[in-house]
Amino acid sequence: MHGKIMKLLLCLAILLVPITFSKIVKAGDDIKEYTPNCTYEEYEKIYLNFYGNSTQEMAEEGNPAELMLDDGEDLYHKVEGTKGKSCASCHGENGEKLRGVAAHYPKYDPTIKGINTIALQINRCRKDKMGAKPLKYESYDQLALTLYVKSLSNGVPINVSIDGPARKFYEEGKRLYYTRMGQWNFNCAICHVKYACKRVRTNLLSPNRHHGDHWPSYRLKWGKAGSIQRRIRGCMKNMRAKPFKYQSEEIRALELYLTYQSNGLPLEVPGMRM
Ligand code: HEC
Ligand code: HEC
Repeated sequence: MHGKIMKLLLCLAILLVPITFSKIVKAGDDIKEYTPNCTYEEYEKIYLNFYGNSTQEMAEEGNPAELMLDDGEDLYHKVEGTKGKSCASCHGENGEKLRGVAAHYPKYDPTIKGINTIALQINRCRKDKMGAKPLKYESYDQLALTLYVKSLSNGVPINVSIDGPARKFYEEGKRLYYTRMGQWNFNCAICHVKYACKRVRTNLLSPNRHHGDHWPSYRLKWGKAGSIQRRIRGCMKNMRAKPFKYQSEEIRALELYLTYQSNGLPLEVPGMRM
């Protein structure tokens, strides 16, 4: 009797082990990428039919976030912290030493053994190089400085690297992009790859090609500028999923994944969206 139970348990164990193990698949290995439903060029045509050129007209009248950009430039020159320095003390009076830099971000950084973002680096410099308090993410000053630093790369083609140690974080970003989450069990790619160019109520779903090239952007819905991380968190809330925290490892991996999709496109900040 005892022996039979043991045999049964052994059989079960042999059956179950591969099942449980096969669930722990390394990031990226189990992803079946969707075929994009449309190109960005097709999307632009559909967009024009759908919304008319109202956003274009608004952009021509001027982007309200330009004011934030000016404030960012002022902050760049402001002496703060215990070391009596401003950003300009080290990075050039007109930011000349930071020109083109943001086109390579997010970027793997060996010091933090992870993905560095411009917003994160600004706070690291404030803390370590200036002896100043880090700025709260998504606060006006943090966004303004990020906007200014990124604007120093305006027109420079985005060139985010996923080689070497960055690869693993890219794969993690991709895995998250294809991970079902929230009450409705959606993933990001369903809306922005598989069903791109389809309508959802009053929205037209955009393919992700340009998702990484225009942040921080002014959004009419917000009535102000915000970061790509705020936008990602917004989509997660719409999915009824718990949004990743600002600058968490997960959201930085997603930012890397999305910015890589925009490689080759010129960085243009501040953007403007509905
Ligand atoms: C005392 C000098 C100093 C000050 C002040 C300083 N930084 Fe830095 N910054 C550095 C150094 C050195 C690095 C290179 C990385 C490191 O050592 O952490 C760096 C790196 C950077 C980078 C990334 C550069 C790259 O090539 O990837 C950015 C962006 C940046 N700083 C922005 C700022 C901003 C914005 C401020 C003001 C809030 C600031 N820094 C203040 C010294 C400084
Ligand atoms: C149910 C559909 C849906 C899902 C799922 C979804 N989004 Fe969105 N997303 C939208 C809609 C609608 C917009 C606004 C219109 C547009 O640009 O597509 C948007 C906009 C965005 C934008 C801004 C695009 C731009 O350039 O202005 C980003 C970035 C974004 N989503 C990322 C994500 C990420 C990351 C996820 C997964 C965590 C996700 N989305 C999941 C529907 C979705």
